[in-house]
Amino acid sequence: MARILITSAIPYINGIKHLGNLIGSQLPADLYARYQRGRGNEVMFLCATDEHGTPAELAAAKASKPVAEYCAEMYAVQADIAKRFGLSFDHFGRSSSEQNKVLTQHFAGKLDEAGLIREVTEKQVYSNADGRFLPDRYIEGTCPNCGYDRARGDQCENCTKQLDPTDLIDPRSAVSGSTDLEVRETKHLYLRQSAMKDQLDAWIDSKSDWPILTTSIAKKWLHDGDGLQDRGITRDLDWGVPVKKGDQDWPGMEGKVFYVWFDAPIEYIACAGEWAEANGKTDADWERWWRTDKGADDVRYVQFMGKDNVPFHTLSFPATILGSGEPWKMVDHLKSFNYLNYDGGQFSTSQGRGVFMDQALEILPADYWRWWLLSHAPESSDSEFTWENFQQSVNKDLADVLGNFVSRITKFCRSKFGEAVPEGGAFGDREQALIDELTRRIRAYEGHMEAMEVRKSAQELRAIWVAGNEYLQAAAPWSTFKEDPEQAAAQVRLGLNLIRLYAVLSAPFIPDTSARMLSAMNTLDTSWPEDAGTALAALPAGHEFTVPDVLFAKITDEQREDWQSRFAGTRD
Ligand code: 2FM
Ligand code: ZN
Repeated sequence: MARILITSAIPYINGIKHLGNLIGSQLPADLYARYQRGRGNEVMFLCATDEHGTPAELAAAKASKPVAEYCAEMYAVQADIAKRFGLSFDHFGRSSSEQNKVLTQHFAGKLDEAGLIREVTEKQVYSNADGRFLPDRYIEGTCPNCGYDRARGDQCENCTKQLDPTDLIDPRSAVSGSTDLEVRETKHLYLRQSAMKDQLDAWIDSKSDWPILTTSIAKKWLHDGDGLQDRGITRDLDWGVPVKKGDQDWPGMEGKVFYVWFDAPIEYIACAGEWAEANGKTDADWERWWRTDKGADDVRYVQFMGKDNVPFHTLSFPATILGSGEPWKMVDHLKSFNYLNYDGGQFSTSQGRGVFMDQALEILPADYWRWWLLSHAPESSDSEFTWENFQQSVNKDLADVLGNFVSRITKFCRSKFGEAVPEGGAFGDREQALIDELTRRIRAYEGHMEAMEVRKSAQELRAIWVAGNEYLQAAAPWSTFKEDPEQAAAQVRLGLNLIRLYAVLSAPFIPDTSARMLSAMNTLDTSWPEDAGTALAALPAGHEFTVPDVLFAKITDEQREDWQSRFAGTRD
């Protein structure tokens, strides 16, 4: 039994995620976790909310709530939606956890001991009225490029020009509106990534099987321009992990916190500690996933994320781990995704554009969305959600192909043989040809799933469903029954067993429907079809079943038009 550690990029706490976020990391990670569990492997699947930094502070301010309270509430909301989408995390943690604080401070201390931290004095805008330094995006003013009067200190939203706060005309605090601003000196810590460039370069080179999307981004950061830059890992904010070296104070760093991108990936590790605490486990129980000196040397670690997250995972986080000099498990495979667009534009959290996870579940059950998103995953390029495509895919793949197969065979059996697997008859050439085809396709499906080729896996699964339909169409037990009821019985027996087989194979994509299929087939046998012939004899003659309710309802044109107009604008 292999041991597989899986992490999904941890979503920011600032609001409910849209479907583009979901398919960019959590959903494909869940697909892989469910598949690996289905194959009998030991899986640890971790995710969390990313709770620190300016996104959290800003969102809490907008909601007029203390930031800790806002985070606690949004954590509960995100955890609930994740569950309803069938995201099967072994633990859904919080980057604001005690474990993450301790570990983040620990790593900083180790990096400092290794001489990999340097202190830098910088100039930063201070707001006298607010009594605090302002991050770039907390400063507003008029854009020198286009004249837009609400440009932010990091970028103008109107003309997209990257800005420096000192570029702004008539700058003011976005917190209070005060113009009583001054530039003050402040000290920050930098991680000396440049000193680790060769080590990181060699490490990336050792990953010959990584997708080109991943390695090309890492290589660009390593070699473009002046090469890999040192990275500021502290901020003048209240909300975050206080800057310390282990449990010791860090002179000159009082009142500062670590940068959110420093502590967020450390939460992958801390989350395992949270899992242990939540489940009455010991430190050894989580360390065997993360410490190569404590059993993690035989773990395969796979990360899932959107392409914008790749630099942090291929360079910054590895720099933290390697730089600590401690035996932490490093990522073995990094699967990254392009973007999913929404109906001719981009999904946008800040503008509320697109379909958000809670809204999606108000319309249709999770499996409809899971199937569409996974079968259209933005792997080799960006992809686009359109309502037409969604309707077509649901109606054809789920309703016509899979749903119809299950309905036809169970109803036919009930009408002619009753609600039990019929006896008699033997398999002939046609059945053997189907078994051969399924054997070939199941091996191909396994190959794609192992390789995390999400779209190819979906295509193969669909082809497996189609093969059953075509068999049923050609065998036509409703005709056979008239002349040769014994042969019809064998055909129906095969068809009923196919339902169980489909439930097992489809579970990573559509887990709720898979559970309904198994329950209709009245079986707990979820064993993986190592051998298609054997798998198709799992439900013996006489085994009772029930006819399930319709598995997938078709999306009508009226519904599609209604949703299309409902989601044409933006959410407030
Ligand atoms: O892009 C995002 O949503 C980030 N919150 C991802 C962080 S992933 C990791 F490093 F923790
Ligand atoms: Zn502008």
